[in-house]
Amino acid sequence: MDIKPFQVEEWMNAYETQCRYNIAETCVDSISLEALFSLTGEDLQAFWKSFSRLRLTYGDIEGSPSLLEGIASLYTTIKRQHIIPTHGAAGANHHIFYSLVRPGDRVVTLVPTYQQLYSIPESYGAQVITLSLHPEDGFLPDLSTLRSLVTKGTRMLCINNPNNPSGALMPESMLQEIVEIARQADCYLLCDEVYRHLNQEDIYIPSIADLYEKGISVSSMSKVFFLAGIRLGWIATRDPEVRKSCLSHRDYNLISCGMWDEHVGAIALKGKEKVLARSQSLIRENLAVLDTWIKHEPHLSYCKPQAGTTALVFYDYDIPSVDFCRRLVTDYGALVTPGDCFDIPHSFRIGYACQTNELRQGLSALSAMLRDEEHRM
Ligand SMILES: Cc1ncc(COP(=O)(O)O)c(C=O)c1O
Repeated sequence: MDIKPFQVEEWMNAYETQCRYNIAETCVDSISLEALFSLTGEDLQAFWKSFSRLRLTYGDIEGSPSLLEGIASLYTTIKRQHIIPTHGAAGANHHIFYSLVRPGDRVVTLVPTYQQLYSIPESYGAQVITLSLHPEDGFLPDLSTLRSLVTKGTRMLCINNPNNPSGALMPESMLQEIVEIARQADCYLLCDEVYRHLNQEDIYIPSIADLYEKGISVSSMSKVFFLAGIRLGWIATRDPEVRKSCLSHRDYNLISCGMWDEHVGAIALKGKEKVLARSQSLIRENLAVLDTWIKHEPHLSYCKPQAGTTALVFYDYDIPSVDFCRRLVTDYGALVTPGDCFDIPHSFRIGYACQTNELRQGLSALSAMLRDEEHRM
């Protein structure tokens, strides 16, 4: 089956092990198992002892009770029986399209976003309609245009809240209106929520799975819980038909998620207050650093993120973004992601949830390149 190259992932694969300052990473700064246990106050030796005595079977096929309990605690209406563990959010998104989208189906996706949300349904033969988000609207959708696109018979509407790459955050009132649009068309509403809880302000943004009976929430341990090394994500939905289809398809491509990943994931979820506090404090401190830096860079502008771990930064030089970013990583050692990976020219995406020191060094490298560009002009 043909599928378009995944532009962001190909860029990251090519450069992320070669750079000095990785300010392209979208996960909150990852930590070791030792650091996780110390953060959550759990006993690593006791965990190790009890885990090492377990027989390594497939484990609980539909997810261990403690993992499901932990995931359910992130929602208000979602219970254990509404959750389907997957291999990362990447596995979850893929699995939803594999289970629900048929050739010829109409799928509407807001862009820019994670490319899975339009290239996978397209590869399954769906008719994918995209609605572009713009910086002048704070990267939020125009709801009357969205209403006109989500016609009766639309199979699925795909959104991503908070948004990667822009860091825009749809408030609850907007999500409620989008739910109404989806309900009118009787379509599924998939929301990729891997950055949920990473807000700059102390506000609670509900999950689409809590707001809509045909809502499908996707999330994972990678970003907010900074544990991308366990490839663990999930689908949460109250729709029994979606669950049935996803579980049936899952027998063919996954079986279970693996005992190790589930055990570690359950520990992080058990300590979620401390884990989330670390993530929130890092993204808030680092966005302040980024914001101050941008204000002092005359050739740059951006729409300040409200959530997530990424920002889309525009520059006013006439250089294609791939050339700009390649020069930055090759000559100055800092890795960011070209805006053209999201079809947004003259921009780059920064991932600012790394260690603050690395962010500062990466931004200094960027400043050095911008000064050299000024002299070139
Ligand atoms: C919006 C979005 N969804 C899904 C993923 C995949 O995440 P995971 O590591 O959980 O597979 C990413 C990773 O960058 C992402 O940004």
